[in-house]
Amino acid sequence: MNKKTRLAVFVSGSGTNLQAIIDAKIGSVEIVVVVSNNPDAHAIERAKKHNIPVEVIDHKQHSSREEFEKEIIRRLEPYRVDLVALAGFMRILSPFFVRAYKNRIMNLHPALLPLFPGIHAAKQALDFGVKFTGCTVHFVDEGVDTGPIILQAVVPIHDDDTEETLLERIHKEEHRIYPEAMRLFAEGKLRIEGRRVFVRE
Ligand code: GAR
Repeated sequence: MNKKTRLAVFVSGSGTNLQAIIDAKIGSVEIVVVVSNNPDAHAIERAKKHNIPVEVIDHKQHSSREEFEKEIIRRLEPYRVDLVALAGFMRILSPFFVRAYKNRIMNLHPALLPLFPGIHAAKQALDFGVKFTGCTVHFVDEGVDTGPIILQAVVPIHDDDTEETLLERIHKEEHRIYPEAMRLFAEGKLRIEGRRVFVRE
């Protein structure tokens, strides 16, 4: 069997996507470490329950973004990570970190990029009045939510939706497409050409 892709999942909060990645039991992927910038993230408990090593690297303990990211790189080294997946990681990674893991960082965003980048994407979609939104898995480049798109899923917006009910529907799709994108990466089925990502099944 080919070597498994060694995955680091970066979290800051609840970790339902981490849970979905764990539960998907992707044969070609091994979660070797979970990194949290938030010592109180519920995601940490989820990782521990599955005996996944956790590295807590609190950004507040570092004098600058670069020092924080240098520490992440240093702490990741022993895990020999092939792929970094941001799963609700609420810190922007600078070009310094992005270059260290070029084309090996994925992010999940709760909207159909390039619409509604940044924070509170579901609320942005509701407030704007679009009838459909969704979620996006993309490679991380040096911008914010701008990298080449791997997979997207569409979610309808209902008249009686609140941010919570809409997010619930978006999460269901996130939990499906994020593990799928990782599987495709691990099996060598993704090819990046400029802004476009081609999927070969
Ligand atoms: C997810 O909905 C993800 O799309 C979003 O944070 C949530 C994390 O949920 N990410 C962003 O908004 C990034 N800009 P989780 O902690 O339950 O996986």
